[in-house]
Amino acid sequence: MCGISGAIGLKDVSNALFESIRNLEYRGYDSCGVALIEKKRLLVKKNIGEVESVYRKENILRHRSNIGIAHTRWATHGSVTKDNTHPFLSKCGKFAVVHNGIISNYRLLREQLIREGYRFHSETDSEVIPQLLSKFYAKEKNIELALRKTMNVLEGTFALAFITTYLPDHIFCAKRESPLMLGIADETKFIGSDFNSFIDFTKNAVIIEDGEYAVISKDGYIVKNSITGEEVAKTIMKIEWDSETSKKGGYPHYMLKEIYEQPQTVQNALDISEDDIADLSNMISKARQAYLVGVGTTFYVAKFGKYTLANLAGQFLPTVSSDEFMSLANVDSNDFVLAVSQSGETYDTLSALRYAKLNKCPTGAIVNVMGSTMARLVDKVILQGSGPEISVISTKAAISQMAILVRIGLHLGIKNKKISKQTYKKHMKDLRELPEIIHGILNERSGFIHRIAHRYCQVKHWLYLGRGIYYPIALESALKMKEVAYVHAEGMPGGFLKHGTLAMIDENINSIVFMPPKEDKKLYESTLHCVEEIRARSGFVLGIHFDARGKNKDLFSEELILPSVSPVVAPFLQVVIAQLLAYFTGTSLKRNVDKPRALAKSVTVG
Ligand code: M6R
Repeated sequence: MCGISGAIGLKDVSNALFESIRNLEYRGYDSCGVALIEKKRLLVKKNIGEVESVYRKENILRHRSNIGIAHTRWATHGSVTKDNTHPFLSKCGKFAVVHNGIISNYRLLREQLIREGYRFHSETDSEVIPQLLSKFYAKEKNIELALRKTMNVLEGTFALAFITTYLPDHIFCAKRESPLMLGIADETKFIGSDFNSFIDFTKNAVIIEDGEYAVISKDGYIVKNSITGEEVAKTIMKIEWDSETSKKGGYPHYMLKEIYEQPQTVQNALDISEDDIADLSNMISKARQAYLVGVGTTFYVAKFGKYTLANLAGQFLPTVSSDEFMSLANVDSNDFVLAVSQSGETYDTLSALRYAKLNKCPTGAIVNVMGSTMARLVDKVILQGSGPEISVISTKAAISQMAILVRIGLHLGIKNKKISKQTYKKHMKDLRELPEIIHGILNERSGFIHRIAHRYCQVKHWLYLGRGIYYPIALESALKMKEVAYVHAEGMPGGFLKHGTLAMIDENINSIVFMPPKEDKKLYESTLHCVEEIRARSGFVLGIHFDARGKNKDLFSEELILPSVSPVVAPFLQVVIAQLLAYFTGTSLKRNVDKPRALAKSVTVG
């Protein structure tokens, strides 16, 4: 779960590599490094820390070269040390390698290589790669053959790239399961884990598929199959994202910028063609059993989808955290698996989909990143068009996925005769007003939420409670608080409280209750019971509700009042409030908001 990049053909690649791995930092930011060919020799500069500080510490910009590779790390094998930082050099000193993924048989390979006289300087799985390249090159005297042989003995996943003084005008790269693509400009070529690595230089991309490798020079590239060695014809894909949308644009953090982009991302979700929505809804209704999968935030979004489809279409879809899917679901060609993923590269969700495909089960996905592995893997993809989400914390992508799931629910509702055309129209009208309402909330409530966050940022434990569709909202909101602020927050169905957790209520634990609009009478009243249960034990309750009458001192200890809206859009507003609360708690506690400790944006390892 690291970022790799490379550039060839520019007068000075150090600067381009700096921009490139800085744009990939969301994939990992423990440590980073660069390898260049300077005066016909390999130069490796690396250290622990974020890209900017490592570049400064190592004075990397003073080295000029027209070829180089770079890496930003999220530690999996081996702690965060300079020795464990990529690039790694081969024993012969002629190969420098960067790697993203996990080499599962590295212990075996390493022992074998040590017996053959190779020395290792790191605890990583990746360091076997340069040694294998060097070993096979010594026999074959051919770089491509050495690479193919290396790929052949590596088990596990990789996107790897290397430069070598044997062929100093070329970058080599190869892929199995971890993402890899080329950026193509006239006299400059790039490689990267995703578009962000070269979007500042070109919008032309070539996607490398599993089992392929590429040889790149400044003037061209060739992609080959690693088993047959035959050339693979590739088409160039135009990236629709604009490099400006990947920048902070005056906001202190990407998270805040992305929260403020939500009116637009919801609008983009509403602009997705009805045909695309109908395709997924038909696949669900055709299936004997349809499942929803996702992980982290997208698991909670999928859970939101579960309630939406049950409420609007009377259809129950088991919803499983992607990492548990294989242990639970026994799928075949009669079933259907619908995945939700921002990056389209998440290992656990890809594994669930690959498992479904292996069992001939049709698959679909709601994905943000075009060209991602998931977008290409499934039978039907909806590209949500939320634009680049850079902060590790998912906000705008999640809310857009929720809107798409509501649209699928409405379509299915008509199909299943659970809602009338009129109700459909009414809900669609409400949804269309959502961007404007979110816009209003952001403008009018941010200051107040900031003050609340500041007031309560020292609270160590929070319970997040919601019933019905507000239960996944509580879960997602609690996750936001945990990852942004490192504050313990536990999401729970409101009805679950009295079955144990109520015993915890005292002055050390605060609760947030996500109230439905009053119109949703049953849900509203049952949620109110949780509030009363807590208040009866003198517990603190922050109520997020839609009751415009304002302060009700007996009911809530603190309250956040939202404009009265229809039940179909109400959960969206709750999410926005919880995002802001987490964000401002994080900033009040001086957390690294966009890059929380120990996390990475795209979790491409299992
Ligand atoms: O790229 P994906 O949506 O598949 O990622 C899934 C999770 O890793 C992701 O949602 C994670 O939980 C985020 N940190 C949430 O903010």
